[in-house]
Amino acid sequence: MASATKHPAILIVFLIHCLCLSRSSSKSTDLTPTPAPWPPQFYSLLYMNVNGSNQIIDLWYDWPKGRNLNIIQNQLGKRLYDLEWDNGTSFFYTLDSTQECRTKHFEVGILRPDWLDGAHYLGQREVDGFLCNVWEKVDFIWYYEDVVTKRPVHWRFFNGMSAHVMTFKEGAVREDEKWQAPVYCFGTTDPKAETTSAGNPRERMVDGVLRGSMSLSM
Ligand SMILES: *[C@@H]1O[C@H](CO)[C@@H](O)[C@H](O)[C@H]1NC(C)=O
Ligand SMILES: *[C@@H]1O[C@H](CO)[C@@H](O)[C@H](O)[C@H]1NC(C)=O
Repeated sequence: MASATKHPAILIVFLIHCLCLSRSSSKSTDLTPTPAPWPPQFYSLLYMNVNGSNQIIDLWYDWPKGRNLNIIQNQLGKRLYDLEWDNGTSFFYTLDSTQECRTKHFEVGILRPDWLDGAHYLGQREVDGFLCNVWEKVDFIWYYEDVVTKRPVHWRFFNGMSAHVMTFKEGAVREDEKWQAPVYCFGTTDPKAETTSAGNPRERMVDGVLRGSMSLSM
């Protein structure tokens, strides 16, 4: 008598247990969103705020050709070009009469399209009026991606820099001749003109923008 009532109870507990387990395991495997990889080539117009100073950045990403260009317009200030090659060389220059140029070598190439792999999912939040999935990567960047279109909307960096993505044109390609650093970037004898940085992808990602915002430190 006692065992006859005990068994169904155990069965029910067992069934509830299975249901809960399968629900929680499908939640963590199937339903956790991952960030869309970057398209191999795109153009994006970014509005940046670096601790209260404003910049507009034209970002040209070109993975097949191993290059990335940030054109940094400081509010009522300098217009700076941060040209990054996958071999580690970055040219940082003006194109006006000041003819400034700095070359820097990193031990890392440009960001890979899958650079967000392994980011930690934080859930959904609304930013700039868009419902976004949010990830955080190594306490360096918080990445907001539109839930519906999968386009990036907002990036927030550990150091107070934030970017609002104004346009995002997949497949846009900048003409080859517009990737040429000016002649005064080459053949310099100034020993300060070339620096080597141990570097990591994170450092390289913010380097140009930061130097752009402190535009007199060239
Ligand atoms: C990397 O590539 C760029 C563009 O071709 C070139 O100007 C630069 O000298 C190269 N850097 C090195 C270290 O080879
Ligand atoms: C912004 O301000 C904070 C706090 O003063 C500082 O820690 C951080 O380094 C600043 N970031 C930049 C990019 O200057």
